[in-house]
Amino acid sequence: MLVLGVETSCDDTAAAVLRDEREVLSNVVASQLTHREYGGVVPELASRQHLKHMLPVMRAALERAAVKPANLDGIAATVGPGLLGSLLVGLSTASAYAMGLEKPFVGVHHIEGHIMANWLVEDMRFPCVVLVISGGHTQIVRMPRIGVFEELGATRDDAAGEAFDKIGKMLGIPYPAGPLFEKLARRGDRQGVPFSRARLKEGEFDFSFSGLKTAARLVLEKEGFAPRTNVQPLQAGRAPGERTLEELEALPQRAFDILASAQEAIVDMLAEKLVASVRATGVSDAYLAGGVAANGRLRERLGQGLLQVGAELRFPPPRLCTDNAAMIACAGAFRLRAGQTSGPETNAFPRGPLQSWASRA
Ligand code: KG4
Ligand code: ZN
Repeated sequence: MLVLGVETSCDDTAAAVLRDEREVLSNVVASQLTHREYGGVVPELASRQHLKHMLPVMRAALERAAVKPANLDGIAATVGPGLLGSLLVGLSTASAYAMGLEKPFVGVHHIEGHIMANWLVEDMRFPCVVLVISGGHTQIVRMPRIGVFEELGATRDDAAGEAFDKIGKMLGIPYPAGPLFEKLARRGDRQGVPFSRARLKEGEFDFSFSGLKTAARLVLEKEGFAPRTNVQPLQAGRAPGERTLEELEALPQRAFDILASAQEAIVDMLAEKLVASVRATGVSDAYLAGGVAANGRLRERLGQGLLQVGAELRFPPPRLCTDNAAMIACAGAFRLRAGQTSGPETNAFPRGPLQSWASRA
């Protein structure tokens, strides 16, 4: 079965061709650099960029896979959650393309795509729990089987990726801060700053990162690292307060200690809840999904934590952790094989929980 996947939920325009739920024949991502100087994604600009990139990216995916459109068995696109204008570009292009080709079309939940990126590596083992950690979502999901999702907990405020992005931004790391944050944190002392870990009274498997964000801001300001004002003039291609890689690398050791300590606090809070959820559900397999799952320290710490409770941790390679269309094609392939299709009335949605589509039995 050959499936074309399309993903446009945020600022990456992506298309991929997948054979039989695993074999990635092509996986094309056009990232938008336009947003850099604004220090975050500007929805209106994102939609326009998707419009510009969508058809060339789809064509490139088909060409690289050496697959003729007529040979596709189906088309899948992200329908939500995400930026509405961005989603609409991918959804309407993909569903119109499917209609023109007289092929089945299916809409895919973005988080389901992130989770299914694990399937691209090897068959997932069920029952399992999945820690979803992206720029917009942080949640723990139990999966008794493919297509069935039971949310155990979620963040009360910021997503884990947002915590990296916002704390990183305070030090002038360009958006999205995660990858460079991790790189700079490698030089720091993880015990350098004793950030407290959020302990929520209710919601056994819920998260909160806003306290850490405030604590990090206070330390950075007190020690003179954070730009104190946001009204610096715009420099071409740079957000206000943004530092270049050279400037970041030349910062005093203490800045790296703060980053390393903040990263460790995020990782600790995630590890604690993931381990607790594995214990409570009695599963022996856990997975990571979403952009933050690319973080090496997090993979290492969570893997160690789970080993202590007799469970194994698996995760996709970094390029499949961040937004891509191969994961959407994979989730779409499973849905199409189960006979699921989405009609022309299908609409995009900005928010919404994972919906099970298979029976629980
Ligand atoms: O899943 P994703 O590509 O997009 C969303 O669906 O949100 O996740 C993007 C997020 C960003 O917040 C980015 O900073 C974070 O993932 N991220 C990382 C790393 N690579 C990406 N965070 C920490 N360490 C990384 N190596
Ligand atoms: Zn994502």
